[in-house]
Amino acid sequence: MSSSVPISDALPTDPGEIFAHIMDPRKRRRKLVALYHQLRNVAPVYQATLPHGNPWIVTRWSDAETLVRDPRLVKDGRLVDMVGLGNEGAYVQNMRRMLAFAPRERHLRLRHLVNRGFTVGKAERLRPGVRELVGRLIDERWDAGGMDLVADYAFRIPMTMICELLGAPVEDVPTIEGWAAETSRRGDESIELTPENETAGDEATEGFWRYFQDLIEQRRRSPRDDLISELVEVQKSADDLEDLDIVATAILLFQAGHETTANMIGKAALALIENPDQSALLRERPELIAHATEEFLRYDTPVQLSVNFADADVPFHGRTIRDGDPVMLFRGAINHDPERFAEPDRLNLEREDLAHHSFGLGAHFCLGASLARIEIQEAVSALVRRLPDLRLASDDWDYKPQLHLHGLESLPVAWAAH
Ligand code: HEM
Repeated sequence: MSSSVPISDALPTDPGEIFAHIMDPRKRRRKLVALYHQLRNVAPVYQATLPHGNPWIVTRWSDAETLVRDPRLVKDGRLVDMVGLGNEGAYVQNMRRMLAFAPRERHLRLRHLVNRGFTVGKAERLRPGVRELVGRLIDERWDAGGMDLVADYAFRIPMTMICELLGAPVEDVPTIEGWAAETSRRGDESIELTPENETAGDEATEGFWRYFQDLIEQRRRSPRDDLISELVEVQKSADDLEDLDIVATAILLFQAGHETTANMIGKAALALIENPDQSALLRERPELIAHATEEFLRYDTPVQLSVNFADADVPFHGRTIRDGDPVMLFRGAINHDPERFAEPDRLNLEREDLAHHSFGLGAHFCLGASLARIEIQEAVSALVRRLPDLRLASDDWDYKPQLHLHGLESLPVAWAAH
């Protein structure tokens, strides 16, 4: 496959300016993919200048494939330092314990220990619960003939399912939701770090600590069929898995699995509303849903960027990524590379050239991908089946300012209740 998207006269042509537009929510408004194409066209090999370091920007599929498989690129605690998350209180201490930011050897070890709780079979056991939940959410709003698809639907699914996976009782969901919201605010690059939200992030982390420490104790006394019990069992033969590692893993699941999945469900619904032919196709052929889910993930990924670091000098297209340099993978750009995908900006639920970088690749491949897929499949299938005339209730929707976790602020939708 080799095609191209022409350079646009309507967008800046200086790489620094294009990059500044990508990073600025007002300047990139509804033009993100066009800006990615522009940057890939004018500067496929580009090193940006940022206050926290000078990252290499990856927008090409082929470069992403090479770099993520290169052992000289790593993901570890340097990210926590680079993005400047504030004081070394509970929030940052907890981040440093998370497997996602652990040094390579520790990551491998932790990942090996927690993988047992994340098999496809274990995720499939949650499918009936997801199906029941999405049905109930639609029932609740049915007579009203409309809802904010983000707040009333998408955001109510993953939190409940992560609690169920961990074994946290459903009545605790609102409390956990409050802590998760505060920890997300603390990590949101689009929100200025103030002493108030630093404290709120620390207090929310302490709330999580107390809650999960208590749940661990309960499961140690009387195990059940849930992830906390499974990790307590793993701990018996792994003396390097401390209670605080289990707690950090539980918190990581909320940080990595809640907003990402909710954002994807919202964006998949928008993609279908904007592409009625594809919505009709899915209604006629519901068995396409698993394949369609991969196309939603490619078309508008909820994780737009990830940062790795060079652990040695790495030659790169005649230049050198220096030891210590950050490397930013722009997943939305990689997934729309015309060298890899025919008509990359078209939603095509039957696409054959389907493969995406939305769950990452290699050692840090998304731990919750199976669960995310099930949630998206069930949430979208129910919308298509139950609300065949789903439409925008107003054009008053927009993306949230955050780029890393990219999603809709709200999506007012309507249907005819009959
Ligand atoms: C549509 C939804 C989701 C997307 C697009 C997504 C995407 C990703 C990506 C791109 C990474 C790798 C990040 C990197 O390399 O820097 C990742 C890692 C991770 N994800 Fe997901 N994720 C989703 C849902 C979930 C869910 C539902 C869970 C768990 C309940 C989860 C748990 C994790 C964890 C724990 C990691 C870290 C893995 C590691 O570092 O070894 N994710 N995810």
